[in-house]
Order: sequence, then C-alpha cells, then structure tokens
Amino acid sequence: MTKDQAIELLHKNMQNQNLRRHCYAVGFAMKGIYEYLDSISRTPAESVEDWQVLGILHDSDYEITKEDWTRHTILLLEWLKEFGMSETDPIYLAVMSHNNKVTGLREPVTDMEWALECCDELTGFIVACALVKGGKLSEVTLETVKKKWPQKAFAAGVIREQTEQCQEKLGVSLDGFISIVLKSMQENCDKLGL
Ligand SMILES: [Fe+2]
Ligand SMILES: [Fe+2]
Repeated sequence: MTKDQAIELLHKNMQNQNLRRHCYAVGFAMKGIYEYLDSISRTPAESVEDWQVLGILHDSDYEITKEDWTRHTILLLEWLKEFGMSETDPIYLAVMSHNNKVTGLREPVTDMEWALECCDELTGFIVACALVKGGKLSEVTLETVKKKWPQKAFAAGVIREQTEQCQEKLGVSLDGFISIVLKSMQENCDKLGL
C-alpha cells in the first residue's frame, strides 16, 4: 500500500480533523524513526513508506470502533484484506500488534512494531505540550517535554511507560527518541494544525 492509498483509506473512514491529525503525526514520527535507525546502520527490513503507511493507518478505524475497543484494529484488518493485502505483509502483522493488550492478536516483535508502540502516545504528549505554548509546536523543545514528562497530572491519559520502552526495544535513549519524534512533527507542523 502506498502513502496516498493509506491517506485515502484514512479519510474515507475518519472525518474528525483532530483524529486524522493524530494519524498524520504518527506517520511523520514513524518516518523520522526509520530514517534515524537507517542512519545508525540499523536499517529496518521494511521500506520507509511502509513505516509511514503503518503510522497513518494505525488508528484509522478508531472513529468507528471507539465505542467498542475490542473491534479496534480488527475492523482495520478487514479493510486491509479487502484492499488485497496479504496476511503476511509486515504492515498487516504490525496492525495486529497494535491494540494487542485488548485483542491479544500479536505481541510487538519487529522494530517497526516497537516504533509504533513507543511513538503513538508520545505524539499526543507533544501536542499537549504545544497547546500550553499557545498551540505553537515550534516553541516546544526537548526541555519542555522533559519538564512535563514526570508531572502525572499533565496529559494524564498518556501512558509514559509505553514510550519509555524505546531504550530497551529500539536501542534509542528516551531523550533521543523524544527529539526524533518532536523534530518529525515540527517539520510537518502545518499539516498538524500546530
Ligand atoms: Fe490505537
Ligand atoms: Fe494512536
């Protein structure tokens, strides 16, 4: 699946602009993480477009399934099959690993799957940081994020532990990981409305 096809599928099934922007943000983050891993000779097996497609797709069924979390990703997997994607496609497998705590379909294994797991919540946290800076993502720094990170009342719904696995699972320090995701989002701030 190409990036354009992923965006088409997303737009067909998700109308809320903020929800769409979350999917774009994770897509940009995934691209940034791929490029970083490639730069340190930990080049992923998949293509950079696959990584971005996964980010764009990962919550594309959320608007329809939000009342029933057990269907989140199950519906998306049906759409991917209808599209003609093979069940052994790395993107298909990675979608199985997302929302795994609810569906029990597949534990994350590959770097692509762990990258999604680690950056998903972080993108939301960075948006929350931008909102306290008057909605200006350009004014958010690594220090802004690090200062807010231990404050439990701030963006209380964001599960920090999910992101903190980046060191163990991807060999990237938390500071490094936050910097990569922040930069990827800042470079595309116009598309994120920030
Ligand atoms: Fe999700
Ligand atoms: Fe998400």
